[in-house]
Amino acid sequence: MSESQSLTLTDSAAGKTAEFPLLRGTLGAPCVDITRLPKETGYFTYDPGFVATASCRSAITYIDGDQGVLLYRGYPIEQLAKQSSFLEVAYLLMQGELPSASEFKSFEHEVTHHTMMHEALKNFLGGFRHDAHPMAMLCGMIGSLAAFYHDSLDMEDPAQRRLAAIRLIAKVPTIAAACYRYSIGWPNRYPRNNLEYVNRFLHMMFEVPSGPLELPPVAAKALDLLFILHADHEQNASTSTVRLVGSTGANPYACVAAGIAALWGPAHGGANEAVLKMLEEIGRPEDVAKAVEKAKDKNSGFRLMGFGHRVYKNYDPRAAIIREMTHKVLADLGVNDPLLEVAMKLEEAALKDEYFVARKLYPNVDFYSGLIYKALNIPTEMFTVMFAIARTAGWVSHWLEQQNDPEAKIGRPRQIYTGAGVRDYVPLSSR
Ligand code: SDX
Repeated sequence: MSESQSLTLTDSAAGKTAEFPLLRGTLGAPCVDITRLPKETGYFTYDPGFVATASCRSAITYIDGDQGVLLYRGYPIEQLAKQSSFLEVAYLLMQGELPSASEFKSFEHEVTHHTMMHEALKNFLGGFRHDAHPMAMLCGMIGSLAAFYHDSLDMEDPAQRRLAAIRLIAKVPTIAAACYRYSIGWPNRYPRNNLEYVNRFLHMMFEVPSGPLELPPVAAKALDLLFILHADHEQNASTSTVRLVGSTGANPYACVAAGIAALWGPAHGGANEAVLKMLEEIGRPEDVAKAVEKAKDKNSGFRLMGFGHRVYKNYDPRAAIIREMTHKVLADLGVNDPLLEVAMKLEEAALKDEYFVARKLYPNVDFYSGLIYKALNIPTEMFTVMFAIARTAGWVSHWLEQQNDPEAKIGRPRQIYTGAGVRDYVPLSSR
């Protein structure tokens, strides 16, 4: 059977029909091109949360929510998780192809030599309370980077766009670690160029002047894997935020700061922190059933954090990988975390419960990740910061793609107006 090339809309009351082309990508469902809808029909579309709306064309990541498939530039996440590294994945997302050995070497050299932050940036930390949430500090610090790069904010210049992307991938870990150390009153640690990306970050986080840092090898491997799995996820809320801010011509530091702000929400990247707090609140495997019942009660306002997904109506492929890694990391580190049993019991109960089955609610990327971060002594408040470090690779890749998109225009959705009709002003004396 031939493929439909267009969709015809009929307005029977007005006796009008209009035809709209169907657009197809390499993979995925066709999309109706409604750019001409208002002009041809006088109508707009209504789609709160953009559940059924494609905002752009993109070649970076593909998700099949029904099959639980996730591809970065066509490569299955399971293969990248097994065989790649976060920095190589960052290159792949930005450039579109896996690097040769020499290409990776020069990319790594570029990133390594942009990891330091301007000394004056440390003064910003002094303005925060010590108990400030690190996501608040990170958002402010990243947004302020634009104040240090006046000479390279010409976004018409591809070299300056690329430099900004490299600077962000390189500096976000440095700034993230600085926020953490400020919050616990430790002196700042500079990035060490002789270490690779993830180990360098772990040293900036945990090295103390009094002695060398002894890290179990599984720590860097586990964090590198988590960074790969969190690096990109097509048009999620924070990436869409980066693109919306980017569509105004704002600089990439402002775009990524906006992405960090969006990621912080508990419905999005903030869920990993919320999952751990939920598991601690449930406390014991025998209290799991009560939590599942509460999550099914609409009046409770309680949801199982780390469950459900706008796109995945199957097991999040990242969650499956993290689940396996959680058992390995805790075993390798000899950590016996009772919350792991609570998490497994919760997953088992929900996956058998009709409420969750009917709504296709499965564990997502955030469900198990916090147990690994906790085993690596990363504090709960830093969990979403971990997510932000990794997703910076995806955010800058989408921003770069958008800058070269001939169809890109300033984002400006419409609305259904439900306010008062036209009325005359009433002077105060008459009110
Ligand atoms: C991330 O988009 C991305 O790709 C995001 C992300 C990425 O990599 O960028 O994958 C990262 O954000 C993962 C999601 C992390 N958030 C959480 O774990 C928070 C808990 N999950 C939910 O809040 C929710 O599932 C969302 C926000 C993730 C998805 O919400 P949707 O698609 O808008 O679904 P919905 O709110 O319309 O829910 C559909 C139904 C509703 O019930 P009914 O009205 O049909 O009766 O499912 C229910 C919801 O009440 N539901 C849940 C639930 N999630 C949805 N009920 C209990 N517990 C939950 N977790």
